[in-house]
Amino acid sequence: MLDLFADNRVAIESLLRANGWIEDGERIEQLAKAGDGNMNRTLRADLGERTLILKQSVPFVAKYPDIAAPADRISVEAEFYRASATAAAVAARLPKVIGFDADNRLLALEDLGVGADFTDAYRNRKAAIELRDAAPDLLQWLSALHGIENPPRIANHAMRTLNHEHIFDIPFRTDNGLDLDALTPGLAELARAVARDREVVGRVRALGEIYLGDAAHESRAVLLHGDFYPGSFLRAADGTVRIIDPEFGFVGVPEFDIGVFIAHLAFARLDEVDVDGHYQPPNGYSIVLARQYAAVEVLRRLLGVAQLPLEADLPSKRAWIDAACRALKAPR
Ligand SMILES: Nc1ncnc2c1ncn2[C@@H]1O[C@H](COP(=O)(O)OP(=O)(O)OP(=O)(O)O)[C@@H](O)[C@H]1O
Ligand SMILES: [Mg+2]
Repeated sequence: MLDLFADNRVAIESLLRANGWIEDGERIEQLAKAGDGNMNRTLRADLGERTLILKQSVPFVAKYPDIAAPADRISVEAEFYRASATAAAVAARLPKVIGFDADNRLLALEDLGVGADFTDAYRNRKAAIELRDAAPDLLQWLSALHGIENPPRIANHAMRTLNHEHIFDIPFRTDNGLDLDALTPGLAELARAVARDREVVGRVRALGEIYLGDAAHESRAVLLHGDFYPGSFLRAADGTVRIIDPEFGFVGVPEFDIGVFIAHLAFARLDEVDVDGHYQPPNGYSIVLARQYAAVEVLRRLLGVAQLPLEADLPSKRAWIDAACRALKAPR
């Protein structure tokens, strides 16, 4: 398998040519990191007249090679892009696929430009306002995605199992080895109180079973993005917002995507966004279930491994945690 490293230009160029992704006369003038990412190898290839993005999955987390990760996640991403191509409104905000090479676990994508993602919205009010203004488009895009009829049955069990551990399990265990007090003094005690709350933990477990597809939900199973948060939103050169990185996509509970989005609006202090006013849900959709997935996302981002670049003190974190616990105890 080819190694997608910036210093492997000659081999990469040969492969791109063999795959028919570049013309005979085209040369890779430069290979550089495409942007911030942990899971995969992602490079921008500069061909002089044009650029393209190359993304490769490896059987571990690219940034932390001692942590194993599902090797074939890039195939899921490729399958997601194929399925989305059937809906023009969905495809319009995704990068076009130039090609997929299963043997080398390599995906070539249209370059949406060097515009940053939206993870600055947690700390920067101007960025948060941009996210607020992009929210209607993002929610309409999600409506179109969730509206795709008869999507291919993308199961993505391996990535779902990995995510399940990080979202529904690790943050609620007192023996998870995380030093939360090093992040915010006093946070560890809040985590212990959540882990002791049997009603909260029981509800989180039930939501995790629905996420895994092991328990039923009322809503129609739809094609989800699976990681619908500001790190997956890019500011394109033309001023529009675009969506990338569907490696956690699967066919399942639509409320999960909406819940994750709601949680990140809260972290960006954008609770005023009218999510339900812009999202056209599939049949059987439950606002309460979406709010509960939002609550779990809040808890796991504050108490779990995948921390966000927040600027928040203990009282702010306590307020988010308390609100999340209340939502999980709300009548359904
Ligand atoms: N099609 C694209 N056009 C422009 N930039 C891109 C494109 N795809 C990826 N990037 C850049 O590369 C970065 C990493 O890409 P991506 O999020 O797909 O990788 P990842 O390894 O799955 O990341 P993570 O560990 O956050 O899941 C993005 O944040 C973005 O800056
Ligand atoms: Mg990713």
